[in-house]
Amino acid sequence: MSVKTLGLFVTISIIINNTFAQIANITTTLSNVAEDGLLNFTELAEKYGYPANVHDVTTEDGYKLKLFNIPGDKSRPVLLVHGVFGTADDYIIRGNSSLAIILAKLGFDVWAMNVRGCRYSRNHRLYNPDNGKDFWDYSVHELGVYDLASNVDYVLNETGQSQLSIVGFSEGTTMTIVLGSEKPEYNSKIKVFIALAPICHLQNAVGPLASLIRVGTFLDRFLAIFNVEEVLGYSSVAKGIMNLLCTQLPISFQLCMDGTVAPLIGANSDDIEKEFFPIAIAHFPAGTSRKNLVHFAQIGSSKIFGQFDYGRPKNYNMYKSFTPPNYDLSKVTMDVVLVSGKNDRVSTLEDTELLKEKLPNVKEHIILQPESFNHLDHMWGRSSSEVSYPYIVQILESYN
Ligand SMILES: *[C@@H]1O[C@H](CO)[C@@H](O)[C@H](O)[C@H]1NC(C)=O
Ligand SMILES: *[C@@H]1O[C@H](CO)[C@@H](O)[C@H](O)[C@H]1NC(C)=O
Ligand SMILES: *[C@@H]1O[C@H](CO)[C@@H](O)[C@H](O)[C@H]1NC(C)=O
Ligand SMILES: *[C@@H]1O[C@H](CO)[C@@H](O)[C@H](O)[C@H]1NC(C)=O
Repeated sequence: MSVKTLGLFVTISIIINNTFAQIANITTTLSNVAEDGLLNFTELAEKYGYPANVHDVTTEDGYKLKLFNIPGDKSRPVLLVHGVFGTADDYIIRGNSSLAIILAKLGFDVWAMNVRGCRYSRNHRLYNPDNGKDFWDYSVHELGVYDLASNVDYVLNETGQSQLSIVGFSEGTTMTIVLGSEKPEYNSKIKVFIALAPICHLQNAVGPLASLIRVGTFLDRFLAIFNVEEVLGYSSVAKGIMNLLCTQLPISFQLCMDGTVAPLIGANSDDIEKEFFPIAIAHFPAGTSRKNLVHFAQIGSSKIFGQFDYGRPKNYNMYKSFTPPNYDLSKVTMDVVLVSGKNDRVSTLEDTELLKEKLPNVKEHIILQPESFNHLDHMWGRSSSEVSYPYIVQILESYN
């Protein structure tokens, strides 16, 4: 599938989602999908022998988030932070060889958060996600400053600890760095931050993603016309169509993995295999805001890791300056370990080098061995339990 076809598919499904949602009632059928595609986090945790508790965390700005805990040794809390369009599920859908279960087996107190807007956290004290724009007025900035901050405080209070460890993936790394920079008092609450596929710069992204970054502003205006605030929500019609195309057809794997996902994240990996792909698609994507995607597009096209750019007049109202403030990475004083794959088209080695130069406390930069290791392999790769997680465990054990 070419970039143009992909863009067209995404755009059309999003428009259909909003314009024809009432008419085109497409009921998602996931009849070909193995059980693990249909189970949610708590059910998967139970199935793999480590039942999870569900906690409710309310952020300072009123969002109600679900936080999952697989109880372990309370003195060793680890918070898992997922990527854009993801949920806590991403850390458990590989079952026995997923990071959440591996850490639970080793006795860590495992906490997995769900950011605002995703399947589990589509909830606010006042705003209705299905009605109006207020709920969706956020980007990775708020995910760091509010969602991550509240989850960190919640876990520390529950465990009676003064520090926890964080494993973040992709946008989960951006959030953590935003928090360390905007609320520097949080640096001392974090023992170590393991950043899988770190994202702060996106200027070296390649392939269709680079094109999407370039057309970001255009896409934003286009979607705004159709009042699209939520993109690819878990229960949306667009996701229903995607489920259909990506799990139910004989050519689903070629169409969606080889044709769409692989070019975006890093091609030629056989680490997300044909049997597993429908399970992943059943859980992902699970929704984010248009504003969040636009913010990432701005970061990529401006080559500046800064706050959301509203345009000159509104910037002045928001920030008292015509350009948005940059995130000051010198304030991110927590211990950081960066983990990269060589075949990652989203978090490239070049962009990670830029980040590494600016962060004051990078303890190590691990570049994983397999040549084919791509963006999503950090979460879903079938061999990650052998080629990546042993490093994570080793680092966590050295700090805990
Ligand atoms: C869509 O179809 C399902 C199952 O047939 C039904 O339960 C639901 O109410 C319908 N939704 C709308 C918006 O018509
Ligand atoms: C998971 O699914 C079960 C069964 O449908 C439900 O009872 C439970 O509330 C769900 N858990 C979460 C966190 O949504
Ligand atoms: C997961 O691993 C445990 C032992 O480590 C085993 O007993 C169990 O059957 C496995 N579960 C599945 C669903 O493969
Ligand atoms: C802190 O934890 C205690 C005991 O678990 C609980 O009673 C209290 O409500 C928590 N406080 C906050 C602010 O979450």
